[in-house]
Amino acid sequence: MEAKKFISGFSKLSKEEKIQWISDFYNKDGKLDLKMFEAFWQKDESLQKVLENFSENTISNFPMPFGIAPNFHINDKVYAVPMVIEESSVVAAASSAAKFWMDKGGFKCEVLGTVKIGQLHFKFSGGVDALKEHFDRINSTLIESVEAITVNMRKRGGGVLDMELVDFSEQEDNYYQLRVSFETCDSMGANFINSVLEQFGHELKAYLNNHYKEEQTEIVMAILSNLTPNCIVRASVSCPIDALDAISPAFSGAEFAERFRMAVRIAEIDPYRATTHNKGIYNGVDSVVLATGNDFRAVEACGHAYASKDGSYASLSHCTVEEGIFKFWIDLPIALGTVGGLTKLHPLANLALEILGRPSAQELMSIIAAVGLAQNFAALRSLVTTGIQKGHMKMHLKNILTQFNANAAEEQAVTSYFSSKVISHSAVRDYLMDLRARVEQ
Ligand code: MEV
Repeated sequence: MEAKKFISGFSKLSKEEKIQWISDFYNKDGKLDLKMFEAFWQKDESLQKVLENFSENTISNFPMPFGIAPNFHINDKVYAVPMVIEESSVVAAASSAAKFWMDKGGFKCEVLGTVKIGQLHFKFSGGVDALKEHFDRINSTLIESVEAITVNMRKRGGGVLDMELVDFSEQEDNYYQLRVSFETCDSMGANFINSVLEQFGHELKAYLNNHYKEEQTEIVMAILSNLTPNCIVRASVSCPIDALDAISPAFSGAEFAERFRMAVRIAEIDPYRATTHNKGIYNGVDSVVLATGNDFRAVEACGHAYASKDGSYASLSHCTVEEGIFKFWIDLPIALGTVGGLTKLHPLANLALEILGRPSAQELMSIIAAVGLAQNFAALRSLVTTGIQKGHMKMHLKNILTQFNANAAEEQAVTSYFSSKVISHSAVRDYLMDLRARVEQ
């Protein structure tokens, strides 16, 4: 019976046939509202095709809120930043932090490096000394072999920068690696890097086969590395501590600064806290990465690996309070593109980049680091003053009201009733039911 659910050739079915197949095998009791899939198709068929072609076996689209966080003052420019995120308080928090720093000099960002990394993993039984002896000739042979693939990138100022031989043969017999560094300008460069590396693989094998027995060399794989510690941007904010006086009626600027510094310090010390702390940073980072058609999994993987660079997972942001000055900054490794990939193909990613003024990759790195820092600032500001739930539940109230199909009058009554009360799902539900019962009487 279960075996019937196996299917071959699913990808060849039309969208309608795929949905029918789901209906036949996974909706026997008719409880699933499969019409929902069609409801989310784009009316414009060519647009629907564009979206479908991004992935295999697409049967519908999955919309997410596309929001704007205005007032981001970054390196003397002002941006309205597009953010795609489903978590209710993120855009509000980013906007409020952006507004707070707007008239305090804004966010200062500096790209510290743009180097990307690729790896050619191979086995060689002739020993490391032989590889070292041939290395210079291997290097020039490999570079020559990718002339055609790299010509356009070189015209734009990029290409292969360098390569080094890494010896892992103590950990795994005969295992070596060519670690290659690249400049990919405004493109994320994944396809470029992978094409170059695959060509390097063929060429390295051919070169070594010319000098050693064929069976002595085996190319294992060629792929970029998502760990790019030298593709990194620093974003910072700073102000005199008395400029923080207005943040909370409960604390002076100096007290707030010290509580904030302590919150960051905890995330520098304790991986349990650091994970949540950095997650808050990625609330902001990912939402701009997504909105601009970039790869948020690559960006996250890199950031979390980098956060462990000193041997233990730690905060990506740092804070000092010295000589009356509050300083808060983040070093964010982030590899992304503003040309190629989805950046033009996805109409909303394209629009997001237009709203940002068609930034270069370096400018987008800066914008994203500033948003990450703003998000972190907003979260810690709440955590060390009112606590996070007040703001979160206020935003979540809208979701609860939507869930219960509240009309405008009910929304107004509930919002006003809970303005000074603790919001919880059950409390809102009970109040709403009570309200409805009273109206019916
Ligand atoms: C929630 O999405 C993010 C926070 O937990 C971040 C933090 O604790 O710093 C609020």
